[in-house]
Amino acid sequence: MGEIARWATDDFRGRGIDSPRLEAELLVAFALGVTRMQVIVDGARLLEKEELTKLRALVKRRRSHEPMAYLRGEREFYGLTFKVDKRVLVPRPDTEALVDVALERTPHVALGGRILDLCTGSGCVAITLAKQRPTADVVATDLSADALAVARENARLLGAYNLSFLQGNLFEAVDNARLPWSPAKFEIVVSNPPYIATAECETLMPTVRDFEPRMALDGGDDGLDFYHRIVSESKARLTNGGLLAVEVGAGQAPAVAELFASHGYTTIEIRRDLAQIERVVSGLKP
Ligand SMILES: C[S@@+](CC[C@H](N)C(=O)[O-])C[C@H]1O[C@@H](n2cnc3c(N)ncnc32)[C@H](O)[C@@H]1O
Repeated sequence: MGEIARWATDDFRGRGIDSPRLEAELLVAFALGVTRMQVIVDGARLLEKEELTKLRALVKRRRSHEPMAYLRGEREFYGLTFKVDKRVLVPRPDTEALVDVALERTPHVALGGRILDLCTGSGCVAITLAKQRPTADVVATDLSADALAVARENARLLGAYNLSFLQGNLFEAVDNARLPWSPAKFEIVVSNPPYIATAECETLMPTVRDFEPRMALDGGDDGLDFYHRIVSESKARLTNGGLLAVEVGAGQAPAVAELFASHGYTTIEIRRDLAQIERVVSGLKP
């Protein structure tokens, strides 16, 4: 195992992949169904022919910058394991801050409430909230039927039953749906929408640019298109005092907070992620 891990490390290093040794060891571990520690301590173990074939195919995919999460078919988020593939954005640790904000700012609806997650992708935010708030009614929407298929499967695998999925363009999904309650108002609206400026999409790392769905990334000319719609249209969908929380890209928080203010939201807060980047903007409907 040690020799093949070294070969993969050199290969990844030569192709500019970050943390090549870590990536190589993780890939060997995944291919052989062992832990990374076993790859390190059991370096002398020789590989069977089928193991070598499987590993070579994985190295080839990673070498072309396909995300590790797609190779493994899963990614951890908020302590849960989500199935992922090229139909959905890979859940990012930064997005855990969006979940934190939603939970921390709404203790008054901890025993119920209605939660809407716009642009759900793999379902990581909606499903985590549904698990954290098992007595809430959670609605998750996406324009992509492919993404919703992944999200539905994740909800099933993770046993999140207080959750419905709707397809549509932002709030249109809710407008066109027959929800079990009326009017369709929510105590919490969250979203991690596409927020990369169109021109910047081409400059992203190959792992993102060439593999993750463009529709999950492109936020229009200045990257802020979705915020304009979400911030203005949420007002009619939130209960009085309801919380709107959105993830934002690096450097976007002041403009998005300004947008919240111009639409009359109160107690607007900006939360930083673990890398100290302003990551989540939230505010209350007055
Ligand atoms: C940045 S990804 C976020 C996925 C997931 N919430 C997460 O945090 O990992 C944005 C998602 O928005 C969806 N999307 C793009 N345009 C949309 C629209 N007009 N209405 C609803 N969803 C949209 C994409 O399909 C994608 O799944």
